[in-house]
Amino acid sequence: MDIQNALAAPAITRREDYRPPEWLVPEVALDFDLDAARTVVRSRLSVERNGAHGEPLRLDGAGQELLAVLVDGVAVNDWRLDGGGLVIPLGGDEHVVELEVVIEPERNTQLMGLYASNGILCTQCEAEGFRRITYFSDRPDVLSMYHVRMTADAARYPVLLANGDPVASSDLGDGRHRAEWNDPFPKPSYLFALVAGDLQVNKGAFTTRSGRDVELGIWVRAADLPKTDHALYSLQEAMAWDERVYGREYDLDVFNIVAVDDFNFGAMENKGLNIFNSRYVLADADTATDYDYDAIAAVVAHEYFHNWSGNRVTCRDWFQLSLKEGFTVYRDQGFSADQGSAAVNRIEAVRTLRASQFPEDAGPLAHPVRPDSYQEISNFYTATIYNKGAELIRMMATILGPAKFRAGSDLYFERSDGTAATCEDFVACMEEAGGVDLAQFRRWYTQAGTPRVQASLSHDDGRARLRLAQATPPTPGQPVKEPMLLPLKVKLFGAETGRALADERLVLLGDPAETIVFDGVTERPVLSINRGFSAPVVIESDRSAADLAFLSAHDDDPFARYEAMQQLMLDALVADAVEGDRSNADAVVAAVADTLDDPALDPAFRAEAVLLPSESFIGDQMSVVDPDAIFRAREALRRTLGERLAERWAAAYDGPREPYSYTPEAKGRRRLRNVALGYLAAARGGAADKLAFTQFEAADNMTDRMGALTVLANGTSDLREAALDIFYSRYRDNALVLDKWFQVQALSSRDDTGVAVAALARHPDFTLGNPNRARSLIGAFGVNQRAFNARGGEGYRFLANQLLELDRLNPQTAAKLLPSLGRWRRFDGARAALMRAELARIVGAAGLSRDLFEQASKSLEG
Ligand code: BES
Ligand code: ZN
Repeated sequence: MDIQNALAAPAITRREDYRPPEWLVPEVALDFDLDAARTVVRSRLSVERNGAHGEPLRLDGAGQELLAVLVDGVAVNDWRLDGGGLVIPLGGDEHVVELEVVIEPERNTQLMGLYASNGILCTQCEAEGFRRITYFSDRPDVLSMYHVRMTADAARYPVLLANGDPVASSDLGDGRHRAEWNDPFPKPSYLFALVAGDLQVNKGAFTTRSGRDVELGIWVRAADLPKTDHALYSLQEAMAWDERVYGREYDLDVFNIVAVDDFNFGAMENKGLNIFNSRYVLADADTATDYDYDAIAAVVAHEYFHNWSGNRVTCRDWFQLSLKEGFTVYRDQGFSADQGSAAVNRIEAVRTLRASQFPEDAGPLAHPVRPDSYQEISNFYTATIYNKGAELIRMMATILGPAKFRAGSDLYFERSDGTAATCEDFVACMEEAGGVDLAQFRRWYTQAGTPRVQASLSHDDGRARLRLAQATPPTPGQPVKEPMLLPLKVKLFGAETGRALADERLVLLGDPAETIVFDGVTERPVLSINRGFSAPVVIESDRSAADLAFLSAHDDDPFARYEAMQQLMLDALVADAVEGDRSNADAVVAAVADTLDDPALDPAFRAEAVLLPSESFIGDQMSVVDPDAIFRAREALRRTLGERLAERWAAAYDGPREPYSYTPEAKGRRRLRNVALGYLAAARGGAADKLAFTQFEAADNMTDRMGALTVLANGTSDLREAALDIFYSRYRDNALVLDKWFQVQALSSRDDTGVAVAALARHPDFTLGNPNRARSLIGAFGVNQRAFNARGGEGYRFLANQLLELDRLNPQTAAKLLPSLGRWRRFDGARAALMRAELARIVGAAGLSRDLFEQASKSLEG
């Protein structure tokens, strides 16, 4: 987070420069005298020279005052500060270094290191936050045993938590108290955590397969305690799932989760003490949507799964980030799939990938899953590392099959336990356990960009020929691409009978072009390809609207049915947006009708399948994004579907009302009803607002309330203001729900959204100081394609102004919101120029953080 400007050359960290640490730190004792204004940190490091060299001890550090340095118990003064770090000459091979520093948690607005959130003191260390707590070898390949002592005011901070197991506590008699924690597992500094605050706990228990009794705790403020059952239940489910599916058991006597309101990310997997953004912990029917409930389960599981994929086996360096994040996302996706509908979960995962990773891969910030260099590592917690990384693991699982994949995972955990490993270590285990050659597959780790596969099918004389050709477009720094290994699941269906013409085949496409032959094909075949989204690629096929409609009704892979429908809709929408051609609308209407009518499909799937692709995904299919034309085309198709299928939407909407319950079935019915409400509104315009308002008022849960509010917020009736006011008054004291109020307005499809958002930024409840609030307005606006890309450039200017202001408080959060501005190449010349002007203004701003500088300057270069 060092201050950077356009003139200073940014320091670049390169993967090829990796060197093992010069000094190891097997043990650390930390002693915190906690106070929000001024915290004193005393550390005692046992250090060991790693190999034969004469280098001094170099420790990382930032934003602290150094009071004392002792070596082997003696104060020394031959140390020096160098670029924020501390350099101490040491003569021997083993020493004890003691440091005393002062930090100011209350003034820490960037929320890295030790900071205060609504009276709670907490830490966030990944990736390089520990160096803001004390000088340390703040890199993931230095593993240490931590002993932590905390002393604090007993009234303000009655609860003192740290990693590992509690070992001692005492009352000091003067209004202060003390606690000690010990973590027996060596860990890198980024997994360090402590929490001090006035917290209550929802306690639970879990007994591991081998009989270890684990005490579970969800720690929150007293008022939030009734909202913690779902998180606790999700944790227990996740613990059982990891034993069942991966054979992984928990390894400490306690596992704590703490919720804090100010948090840069979703949650953090600190050993034995996960710290969560409160939005991924707190839920009850009145305040959390089904989506929120699902997200809580997924994030709780994700952080828990890191205990093995991340903590027991960590990363050698930050270039290996996907080793823990890609694998853990793959694991949490498997968990979610097993908790509810696997098909719907896969659809949602692919939708996320296409909404955030494909654009990244096609834009100025494209990078490989294992990057080669970075300026600021915080900028590399990306959809590519996470979501594409998870797809890489999924492809290996597909290539190996379930049993060998599990064997590869076992081998990896066994061989790497207690070490800091690399992506290569993981692939090598899969290769060994699977008995396969993954040499070409490794390109997925080094080559950025989304491969495109052309597929065309021909048929004669009882034989079908599938011609496949692959190419990956150039990305910054990688002008020429090698062919990838693509596992493509393929199946043919008979156009007349609707029957499968052969079993599904797994094609491993490794050459630039290949032809696959199917024999015994007696009727015209229809191609189903990339079933289950077996490879994260774009398929370009010449399938007709009729064939896509056929697949959407007859394919036996639910994902492929969804996909066929999406492609059908996309083709129709692009044809309208580009050439005003609406001739494919009929085919879409018919296919949607068939899907709604199919009694074999569960409501959750039907709800997903009948949703139109997002405006930005439509834009991704066009050579030049025309946000207004896309909006018009999409609204027109929405209205056509709403009108032509009015009875079906009404029937789906009018089903029997049921009291709220959070089961996959009830969730699916709610989803379909709210999708139906959206189509009714599209058809009836203002006339549906009364329906929505009635739902808004009668709802006994947040899913239905938000479903209705979303429709109203897009509309123009008086009921809109009424609903927004009611919602605001009811939830003004609930920050997480108020975020929804900001967000629904920022995502509105109304013509005046840009103006409304600018006004909301001056609302008394708006603050850039809280990342959730900043994201709910600024982040949401940045992805509202039409509003953000208003022709005059006012959306760009607004975002740039907000980011410059946010950067002074919280560079990581500011940098995360920049990529909307970086998409200039995708737009017409006028918009591109306006975007570039804002990027240039950001790059030239004085006192810019390294985080925002890297994102903005790379976006400008492209
Ligand atoms: N290790 C990360 C938290 C993190 C993110 C630290 C960015 C430093 C920078 C954690 O495991 C994580 O990945 N959290 C995700 C949610 C998860 C379900 C994908 C997050 O915070 O968004
Ligand atoms: Zn993670």
